[in-house]
Amino acid sequence: MTVSTQRKILVTSALPYANGPIHLGHLVEYIQTDIWVRAMKSLGHHVTYVCADDAHGTAIMLKAQDNGVTPEEQIATVKASHEKDFAGFHIDFDNYYSTHSPENKALSQDIYTKLEQGGYIFTKDVEQLFDTEKGLFLADRFVKGECPECAAKDQYGDNCEVCSTTYNATELKNPYSTLSKSKPVIKSSKHYFFDLPKFSEFLKSWTRTDNRLQSSIANKLDEWFTAGLAPWDISRDAPYFGFKIPNTPADEPDKYFYVWLDAPVGYMASFKNLCDKTGLDFDEYWKQDSTAELYHFIGKDIVYFHALFWPAMLKGANLRTPTAVNAHGFLMVNGEKMSKSRGTFIKAQTYLEHLNPEYLRYYFASKLSDTVEDINLDLDDFMTKVNSDLVGKVVNIASRSAGFIHKNHDGKLSDNITEPQLLQDIIDAGDEIALAYENREFSRAMRLIMACADKANAYIDDKKPWALNKIDGKAQEVQDICTVAINIFRQLAVYLAPVLPVLTKNACEFLNVDSLNFASRKQVLTSHTINAFKPLMARIEKDKINAMVDSSKDSLAQDKPKDKTANKAVDTQMNNEFISIDDFAKVEMTVAHVLECNHVEGADKLLQFTLDVGDESTRNVFSGIAKFYKPEELSGKKVVCVTNLAPRKMKFGVSEGMILSAEKDGKLQVVILPDDMVVGAKLA
Ligand code: 2FM
Ligand code: ZN
Repeated sequence: MTVSTQRKILVTSALPYANGPIHLGHLVEYIQTDIWVRAMKSLGHHVTYVCADDAHGTAIMLKAQDNGVTPEEQIATVKASHEKDFAGFHIDFDNYYSTHSPENKALSQDIYTKLEQGGYIFTKDVEQLFDTEKGLFLADRFVKGECPECAAKDQYGDNCEVCSTTYNATELKNPYSTLSKSKPVIKSSKHYFFDLPKFSEFLKSWTRTDNRLQSSIANKLDEWFTAGLAPWDISRDAPYFGFKIPNTPADEPDKYFYVWLDAPVGYMASFKNLCDKTGLDFDEYWKQDSTAELYHFIGKDIVYFHALFWPAMLKGANLRTPTAVNAHGFLMVNGEKMSKSRGTFIKAQTYLEHLNPEYLRYYFASKLSDTVEDINLDLDDFMTKVNSDLVGKVVNIASRSAGFIHKNHDGKLSDNITEPQLLQDIIDAGDEIALAYENREFSRAMRLIMACADKANAYIDDKKPWALNKIDGKAQEVQDICTVAINIFRQLAVYLAPVLPVLTKNACEFLNVDSLNFASRKQVLTSHTINAFKPLMARIEKDKINAMVDSSKDSLAQDKPKDKTANKAVDTQMNNEFISIDDFAKVEMTVAHVLECNHVEGADKLLQFTLDVGDESTRNVFSGIAKFYKPEELSGKKVVCVTNLAPRKMKFGVSEGMILSAEKDGKLQVVILPDDMVVGAKLA
């Protein structure tokens, strides 16, 4: 792709909290962003990539207390470890900073003051649970109690994990502080609010113009607009680790910005810090009519903050708004949520102790698209794909050609390309590959690159230089074939450079060239001397993966429910944990009469049912509840049967439905209906 104009682009990844290590789940985003930044730089644009630690909030303050250090010490230690982890995975920030910085304080207070002057801030008294022992107001994740709806015990302050009801923490029955275990009291205090509804019209149009958001995200926002936006509580009472809200009455207690107010301003602050070091023009990027581009890469769980609060704040403060917000899905490992007990909650450091980071960069690239679909790290597939694509296809092109060039020609390539069309096809593929990178369709880019590698390997297989090399008088032909192959390898290294920076650097050395960026794509190496080939990438060995999983296993771990800091309702929706009414309607649940219920010989766990479900014939259903019921307890009862489930062939016969039961702590209870329910009636 020829670059006609150099674009000025500022890119961010979400700021990780300064209270825990980086793990593979985080790395999806940093690797995705880093690949995009490297690709855009390689295409000749002026790109700046900034990030920082998200250093404020109650959780970090309490973590510091637990560790017996000051919050400043706590965040400094974590920042150093984050920077080490990112460097380990070759995440090449132009600046990595902290939200606990003078630049961020000044910018946050300045933006807030402009919002206040614009009439977008108001105050209101709010009642909250207060831990009198700890002397602090309790955020929802620090309070538990009984669900006001279903009385389930030990539910957090925002919603019930048993019945999914959402409520205010003050509605919990028998609440207790998870910090001190004491009973909190309800206390009122003045809070500062950002008047988000005043930006409703602006946001409705902003989110729908210029492809700022992926369509699934824009659709989700429409639902939120329909439900109505609410003012945002942006203040927290002392004690709190954060910045004081300016301009508050002198005779009132200090108030602090809620961590999510100054976190996105941290993007600006990190950039400001860089500008002050390098002479870049801060205002050129942030003024209202800036022509520079601004992209935020985020997880789908924090869309609300980035596509609603943040653009509204910027708009209210007369600053530019983001060009686009690019959301990605979550990481699954082996098809499931990452789990400490299964050893799939893998920290960056643990990975690096066992495996090459470029394996993961390539695997993520081969999975990532421009959608918010979750991506799955299947550890067997990971090994197969990396070994087959990178080692077996790409590196193989160089390793099977370089030896002949060195042995017979002192490392010198032929003076012309004898297969110009093949090389040209691979050079031409670069346009589509560049576009795929720019559109964040990395999996497509990787497929296109591997298709080029397949062509090169087919060419070498066809020409068989190893056989020709044994025939007198064929030295020139062998040199020509290997020259074509080495040139194709060079193109592939250009295309893979955003994903594999180290392999590319080593390829530069081997090819004896200065750089491998897109601008140099059309260069062809003839009469050029290359250096000796050193293995560019080793195969992944299964025992290394096993060792990594073993080191990640925490046998005492109970996999905790999700981090409660994010807006849970938003999180649930963006995770697609809701199903549509149409999905629900697909399940046919029928009132069934148990005509017979028997043990199944040879299957201790099963009971066999003969059911009348209201049609002419009876149904045979097996259910794994023998541990909990004697057959006679269920004979004659009315139960619920899912009648449109595909029949399932089992060792003992075909099961033609499923009997509904409820599960708690591993114990199953069949849903028994009142006797007067009509057989064959559908549940809706
Ligand atoms: O969800 C999180 O991990 C936050 N620390 C992300 C902040 S992104 C930005 F707004 F600062
Ligand atoms: Zn409940």
